[in-house]
Amino acid sequence: MTEIVGVIGSGTMGNGIAQVAARAGYSVIMRDIKDEFLQRGLQAINKSLQRDVDKERLSAGEKQSILDRIKCTTDLDALSAAAFVVEAVTEDLAVKTELFSALDRITPPEVILASNTSSISITRLGAATSRPAKVIGMHFMNPVPVMKLVEVIRGIATSNETYERVRSLTEKLGKTALDCNDSPGFVSNRVLLPMINEAIFTLYEGVATRESIDGIMKLGMNHPMGPLQLADFIGLDVCLAILNVLYDGLGDPKYRACPLLKRYVDAGWLGRKSGRGFYEY
Ligand SMILES: NC(=O)c1ccc[n+]([C@@H]2O[C@H](COP(=O)([O-])OP(=O)(O)OC[C@H]3O[C@@H](n4cnc5c(N)ncnc54)[C@H](O)[C@@H]3O)[C@@H](O)[C@H]2O)c1
Repeated sequence: MTEIVGVIGSGTMGNGIAQVAARAGYSVIMRDIKDEFLQRGLQAINKSLQRDVDKERLSAGEKQSILDRIKCTTDLDALSAAAFVVEAVTEDLAVKTELFSALDRITPPEVILASNTSSISITRLGAATSRPAKVIGMHFMNPVPVMKLVEVIRGIATSNETYERVRSLTEKLGKTALDCNDSPGFVSNRVLLPMINEAIFTLYEGVATRESIDGIMKLGMNHPMGPLQLADFIGLDVCLAILNVLYDGLGDPKYRACPLLKRYVDAGWLGRKSGRGFYEY
C-alpha cells in the first residue's frame, strides 16, 4: 500500500507540499479548517499542474492521477492514517503547539511530525508532544514545486533516525535536504533578512535609488532579483516579523529592523500582495 503523507494547511505552502508529495507517488491527506480553504488549495494545485500539461511536461492523465491521490478533509482525526505528517498552518506559536499536541494524540507513536515553520522553535514544538525525537523542521521554499531546497531543522531532541528518514523523504520528493540546528531564523532567513534589511537602510539613508540598489545586486552579484523587490515578494510584514524573531532571539542589535520598513508596514504597504511596497504593482 502507498504510504500516506498528511499535510496540515492548504495555503500557499501546504498546497505546494501536497502537490509535490502526490506527484512523487504518495497518497496525500490535506487538512484545513474550512472546506473553502481546501477548495482554494486544490484550485492552486490544479492550476500549477495544468501549466505543466500546457508545456507538455505532464500528460492530462498523469495530472488527473496526481489530483486523485489528494484527499481533502477538515477532520483532524483522518490524520490517524498518515505515515508522515508535514504541518504548514499559519505562523502562530499557539496554533502550532495546540496542533502538535493533537497530532501527538491522533497519530501512531512512530509517525514523524514535521513543521514547515519559518521561525518557530522546533524544540518548542517537540516539547508540546510526547515524541520530541520525532519532531523536526522541514522548511520548504516558496514556490514549493519549483524550489529545490528543503532546510531540515533538528530540534534539541530530534533523533538521527528521524533526520535520516526526513532526508530520504525529501529526496523522494525530488528535493535536496540541507540540515542545520534549531536557532532563530535557521540558516536561510538569518542570512537573507539582514541583507534585505541593509538594502532598505541604503534606500532610507539616500545612498542610492531603489532601481540602483536592486540593479547593483542583480548585475553585480548575479542575484535573480534585487533585495527590495524580493522583500516586496516575501511581504514586508513577513520580513519585519522575521527580523523581530532574529532581534529577540539572538539579542544582537545588528538585527534591528530599518525604521523605513516599519513605516511601510504601518502604512499597509506590504509589497506585491497589497499593491504597493518598494515598488507599485
Ligand atoms: N509563504 C512562504 O513564503 C513561506 C515559506 C516558507 C515557510 N512558510 C511557513 O509555512 C507555513 C504556512 O505558510 P503559508 O504561507 O502557506 O500560509 P497561508 O496563510 O497561505 O496558509 C495557512 C493555512 O493554514 C490553515 N490553518 C490554520 N490553522 C489550521 C489548523 N489548525 N489546521 C489546519 N489548517 C489550519 C489556514 O486556514 C490557511 O489555509 C507558516 O509556518 C510559514 O511560516 C511560508
